[in-house]
Amino acid sequence: MSAKKSQSSGVTGRDSFTSSFGVLVALAGSAVGLGNLWRFPYLVGENGGAAFIFIYIVFVFILCLPIMYSEFIIGRRSQKNVFGAFKVLAPGSKWGIVGIFSVLSALCILSFYSVVGGWSIEYLAKAITFDFTRGSEANLDTMFGDFVSSPIKPLVWHVVFLLLTALVVIAGIKKGIERYTKMMMPLLFLMIIVIAVRSVTLEGAKEGITYLFKPDFSKVTFDTLLSALGQAFFSLSIGCGTIMTYASYVSKSENIVKMSALTAVADTTFAIIAGCAIMPAVFAFGISPGEGPGLVFITLPKIFAQMPLGGILAIVFFFILLIAALTSSISLLEVVVAYLKEEFKMKRTTAVIIGSSIFLVTGCLASLSMGVLSDVKIFGKTFFDLFDTLSSDFFLTTCGLLVVLFVGWRLGKANVMDELTNSGTLKLPKWFTEMTFFIIRFVAPATILVIMIFG
Ligand code: PHE
Repeated sequence: MSAKKSQSSGVTGRDSFTSSFGVLVALAGSAVGLGNLWRFPYLVGENGGAAFIFIYIVFVFILCLPIMYSEFIIGRRSQKNVFGAFKVLAPGSKWGIVGIFSVLSALCILSFYSVVGGWSIEYLAKAITFDFTRGSEANLDTMFGDFVSSPIKPLVWHVVFLLLTALVVIAGIKKGIERYTKMMMPLLFLMIIVIAVRSVTLEGAKEGITYLFKPDFSKVTFDTLLSALGQAFFSLSIGCGTIMTYASYVSKSENIVKMSALTAVADTTFAIIAGCAIMPAVFAFGISPGEGPGLVFITLPKIFAQMPLGGILAIVFFFILLIAALTSSISLLEVVVAYLKEEFKMKRTTAVIIGSSIFLVTGCLASLSMGVLSDVKIFGKTFFDLFDTLSSDFFLTTCGLLVVLFVGWRLGKANVMDELTNSGTLKLPKWFTEMTFFIIRFVAPATILVIMIFG
């Protein structure tokens, strides 16, 4: 990717990204996160290995990319926050509701995301003090449960994590988000490759590699499809306004199709490398691959405890987890901050303080619901599960659906073509633009609806 300078969006006087590389790392930073390191490997584990990966890739590139273009189109065309965008593109209409849903979606995700981000700080601290290698195996089994259910420590780390996020967002797009993601993303890729190389060269790793790359379609059910689509939305950061918001800071000369495709490639590649970092080691140490969400925080520490050089690798791994979570949470906070700043005419700093304070409270509820508040249930769910389920099962898909409906039916073909081709200056094959519009208008809404109804 060339580091060509994009012309600043200038006209609106808004802060903006300064280069194509800056846009790419910010988008990839949002996409690569806990979803790749924590969710993807265990979903692969539970859903038949390579068969799941195959279905996932099909969803990402056929269905989700056009949804990503749609968010990109809305953001870049309007150069506004998720709510303001619809006031510009569909004045006097009720479409602003998509913006409100996007803000709520980001709110739900960050509320549990920053808690898990906080866990990664605790585990990084444990790795640095060689806690995994010193403790007994039984210790490692109870370590996670004891930690997340304790009242104070997870809260403290949640606050620290939010603070780190807020510090980057306060500095703005150019000086904060672009600057930090540019430093962090290359490092992230480099480090995960190091861990993957160590993992695949372990004795007995072969079985894990076969598991990842040899499809077992007998395990594929309708639920597998649901999980794969849900994961694709979550992992690409679709359906919660982050792409719309980032796109509003992107220059009119940027190639939307290329930028979105590169983001999807980076995100998927990272997820597969993360799979290679985790699965072969899991098999080499004779652990079941379908361990579920505990994979990263319970299984991996056990593996690090036994592996040669495991102490060091544990530090690297939990550092990766922290950075990946941070670059995603930054994008989530920015959705809310841009909205508060522009719609309520606030200074950026004020918007960050107010936005973070909301997350502080919701995150504390999510964190405490692992322990002292575990009996408090809304619709039969603890706060943590409620935020997770609301976002994954409702907001992400609903926003995704509304976005494609808006772009496909309200914005219309001429505007979509105009954005995709930068007013005709980019020469894209006709079959490609036609097919993309067809997917945005018919295929994507129909598929999302089916999934929503039967899921
Ligand atoms: N894509 C992030 C991940 O994979 C999660 C995320 C979702 C971030 C939505 C921003 C918006 O972890």
